[in-house]
Amino acid sequence: MKSGGILKIDILTLFPEMFEGVFQESILKRAREKGLVEINFHNFREFSKDPHKKVDDTPYGGGGGMVLCCQPIFDCVKSLRTKESTVILLTPSGKKYTEQKAKELAGKKHLILICGHYEGFDERIRYLCDEEISIGDYVLTGGEIPSMVLVDSITRLLPGVIKEESYVQDSFYQNSLDFPTYTKPAVYEGYSVPEILLSGDHAKIKQWRKEMAEKKTQEIRPDLKGEEVWNDTIS
Ligand code: ADE
Repeated sequence: MKSGGILKIDILTLFPEMFEGVFQESILKRAREKGLVEINFHNFREFSKDPHKKVDDTPYGGGGGMVLCCQPIFDCVKSLRTKESTVILLTPSGKKYTEQKAKELAGKKHLILICGHYEGFDERIRYLCDEEISIGDYVLTGGEIPSMVLVDSITRLLPGVIKEESYVQDSFYQNSLDFPTYTKPAVYEGYSVPEILLSGDHAKIKQWRKEMAEKKTQEIRPDLKGEEVWNDTIS
């Protein structure tokens, strides 16, 4: 995470309207209003030199579907890119996205996110990109939802967006799942809050939370390492 300066994010998409709502509510809305993150949308169709503003064409070698052409995306990226930019292509064949990657990207100054759509994109678009990211092993209709996932997970890590205590104990931040939390009432429909949380004994509560986080991680996500879970940043 960087200590100062605004993170600028430029999103290349054929469907900017898809982002309405998601970036205009709650924490993302406040982060934008406070000037902690700047998010811009660019419909790369506007960069098309085709008389009909076409952005895709049939694949060489045959086969079904349409493929996004180089020209509109190359020209759009070139109009935005500076020495400080990191250009990211959202694609199911990219490297799998993690909280670790979110932390790394939250330290950058300028991100350019390219959302593919339709069947795919001309392979040469890869030459424009510094990274290729997938949000998981499943195929979506385009890169819009994946880029929303990146923007949301990165923005919440920026200084001043949410309190640091809120995310240092989150699932994955420390390579582990989160401990269980409860709020009032102490008994609801016969289900009780664990006694220890009502005890007021902070040392015991801390120990219990550590054990519960480890147990949950072991049961649900044994693939996570979990060893960094309880460093001194968590009280
Ligand atoms: N585009 C389509 N599916 C995707 C995925 N899983 N991750 C990133 N971009 C995608």
